[in-house]
Amino acid sequence: MKLRRCTVVMLEPREQVQFDLQAILQGRTELATNTTWFALAGHLNQPVEISAAQRELIGTLSPRHWVAAGELPADGTVWQPLLDAGLLIADDEAHAGPRARDEALRDMHWWPLSALAHRHARWQGVDSAADMRANDLVTAKGLRRQLGAPPPAVHEYPGQYEPLPPAISGDYDQLLERRTTCRNFDAGRSISRELLAQLLQRTVKAQAVVQVEADTEFLKKNVPSGGGLHATETYLLVQRVDGMEPGLYHYHPVQHALIGLPRRCGRPLQEVARAMLSGQDWFADAAAHIVLVPRFARTYWKYRNHAKAYRALLLDVGHISQALYMAATERGMGAFVTAAINEVDTEEAFALDGVTQSPVAIVGVGWRGPALETAEFDPNHVVWTLG
Ligand SMILES: Cc1cc2nc3c(=O)[nH]c(=O)nc-3n(C[C@H](O)[C@H](O)[C@H](O)COP(=O)(O)O)c2cc1C
Repeated sequence: MKLRRCTVVMLEPREQVQFDLQAILQGRTELATNTTWFALAGHLNQPVEISAAQRELIGTLSPRHWVAAGELPADGTVWQPLLDAGLLIADDEAHAGPRARDEALRDMHWWPLSALAHRHARWQGVDSAADMRANDLVTAKGLRRQLGAPPPAVHEYPGQYEPLPPAISGDYDQLLERRTTCRNFDAGRSISRELLAQLLQRTVKAQAVVQVEADTEFLKKNVPSGGGLHATETYLLVQRVDGMEPGLYHYHPVQHALIGLPRRCGRPLQEVARAMLSGQDWFADAAAHIVLVPRFARTYWKYRNHAKAYRALLLDVGHISQALYMAATERGMGAFVTAAINEVDTEEAFALDGVTQSPVAIVGVGWRGPALETAEFDPNHVVWTLG
C-alpha cells in the first residue's frame, strides 16, 4: 500500500481553557490552558485531533508523491489513525472513498482556504432557532441585553455632509419599499404553477445561450454572475404549488423546465424543510423553497486556485436571492433568504455529494398569512399596515 497526504489540509493549534482542579482544591480559582492540534482537511467534514508525531508526519508528506507505507518516517501507531481519519490517502481499494473525495476536490481547483472555509462551516442537525431562543438572541432587545451595544449603524466622517436631492418616488421605489423578509407564510394557501414559473423565469432562467464552441456555452441571465459562469444550480422543495406534486425538483435554466427528483426518506416535506432551515419554523411554511447550490467546478474552471472565486460564488447567490425577493414582492408574495441552513441535511435530501455541489442559501416564497405572529422588519408599516 502506498500513501500520500490529502490535498488540502491546515494544522491548527487550539487553546482550551479549563478550571485548574488542583488550584480549586487549594481554594484558588485559576485557569489552566492546554493546546491541542487539529487537522482540518478540505475533503473531511470534521477537524481531526492529532498528536505531535502525527503533525510532524503530515508536514513531511507530499500531496502528490506516493510513499510505501513501510518507508514512512513513523510507525503504524502514528500513520494508521491518520489513514483511518482520511488525512492520509491510500492507493488501495479499501480506501477508495476518501481518495475519490480528495481527488474531486483537487481536480476542481479550489483555493485551499476557501475549500476549508466552505467545508468546515457546513452544519448538520443544527437547530439555530432553538439556540437563539435559549440564548435570548431572538429579538433586537434580547441581542442588546446579551451582547451589549453594537457598533453604530452609520459610519460618519466628521464635518458637514452635503444633502442629496430626494428622488421622485415611482413604481420601482414602491416595489422596493414592499420588500420585507417574510416570516409569516400562509400554511393553507398554495401558489399557482404559473407564478412559480414566472419567478424562475425572471431570476434564474437563461435569457440567451451563447455558444463559443460546441462544448463551451455561456448563459445570459437577469442576474449578474462572476465570470459570467452562472454556476449556481436551482433545486426546489415544493410544498404547495397548484398542479405540482409536492416534492423535490431541479430546474433547467435553458429549457425552463423542472424535473422531479427521488425522495430519499419518508419524512413529511415540512419536516425536511425545517431541518434544512436549521429549525427556523417561521420559514418552513413557504409554498416553495428554492435551494441555491453552486456547482464549484464551473467557476473554478476559469478561476483556478483563485482567492476571489468562492467570494464571487457567494455574491452570485446573493444576487439571485434579491432578484427572487423582488420578483415575489412584485406579485404580492412574501419571500425570505437564509444562510443559516443545515448544508449536510440539505445535501442528503437532494443527493448532492457536498464536494462538487453544496448549498449556500435557501430562499422561500409564498403568500403571507393573515396575522403577524413572528416579527418582520417593517418599521414603516408598508406590508403590515397599522390597524
Ligand atoms: C445572507 C442573509 C441571511 C439571512 N439569514 C436569515 C436567517 O437565518 N433567519 C432570518 O429570520 N432572517 C434571515 N435573513 C433576513 C434578514 O434578517 C433580513 O434581511 C433583515 O432583518 C432585514 O429585514 P428586511 O429583509 O425585511 O429588510 C437573512 C438575510 C440575508 C441577506
